[in-house]
Amino acid sequence: MKSDDLIITIKKEISAIKDIVNLNILKIKYLGKKGYISSQFLLIKKLNKKEKINKSIIINSQKKQIKKIIKERIKEIKLIKNNKQYSNHEIDISLPGKFIKIGSEHPLNYIIKKIENFFVKIGFKIVIGLEIEDSFHNFDALNIPKYHPARTEKDTFWLDKNILLRTQTSNIQIRIMKKKKPPIRILTSGKVYRNDYDNNHTPMFHQIEGLYIDKKVSFTDLKGILSIFLDFFFGKKYQTRIRPSYFPFTEPSLEMDILNKNKKWIEVLGAGMVHPNVLKNVNINSSKYNGFAFGIGVERLTMLYYNINDIRSFYENDLRFLKQFKLNNFI
Ligand code: PHE
Repeated sequence: MKSDDLIITIKKEISAIKDIVNLNILKIKYLGKKGYISSQFLLIKKLNKKEKINKSIIINSQKKQIKKIIKERIKEIKLIKNNKQYSNHEIDISLPGKFIKIGSEHPLNYIIKKIENFFVKIGFKIVIGLEIEDSFHNFDALNIPKYHPARTEKDTFWLDKNILLRTQTSNIQIRIMKKKKPPIRILTSGKVYRNDYDNNHTPMFHQIEGLYIDKKVSFTDLKGILSIFLDFFFGKKYQTRIRPSYFPFTEPSLEMDILNKNKKWIEVLGAGMVHPNVLKNVNINSSKYNGFAFGIGVERLTMLYYNINDIRSFYENDLRFLKQFKLNNFI
């Protein structure tokens, strides 16, 4: 039989087969150890070299074609079987689907978003900034003297003599004021680092920094905005207080506390009128412009918001803790 004819015959034979078991029998008949192809190879042993080469090319091509035909038929048989199952309702399409577990938003991210939403509504623009900083932007330009204890290794993670992990988001004040002319109204959020660790402090935590520079900004504006913000945030659930404080980069400075459930005042933010020295350091004319800055402790607010008493639970990745916040995604 001519090679092409043979393949056509085999093709017919294979397509008549309707199940995998019989197809395997046929596969053995053609491709098995004692099958047709093997027997052809045995036959050519006696031929001379040239004929042997020619013949073996033909046999190899036949082998390849038969393999392909069988493979395609297997696919077809499987498909037919599948379709039959569907049409016979062997698969119960009324069964409930597989439940795909989706993660939940981290409570800190949710709170940051909530705070950002408030300030965006009153005209603040969101900016992002660097976590690795130099001492100029983290300390010098913020009017923090060279001898200030915050600069020591006890408090700050230094990467080399001049480079550090920022200890506060106030570095962004400097970066923005260097770049932009007033009026400036920005908000930034992010990680800050300090060498501290207990159930109220972690070496990394989050702050939100706001900065407002314009003509005739008043201390009353600052107090008003922050009080309205805390009332909005907690829905007036907690009593708040403002008390005088000190930061080298603001004058006057204040801190705001919240009276928690145990009747303890918890400090949640620091703020003040931007110090004229800071404005000078970034070439803003302090006789023309002034403004305020504030820094909010995100973990503190989140702990009060959800009644969490150990700051470390935010970073332990315990699903039992994280899962509790799922519903908040939809608020
Ligand atoms: N950077 C201060 C801190 O980390 C907070 C602050 C920000 C105070 C802006 C005043 C103005 O404690």
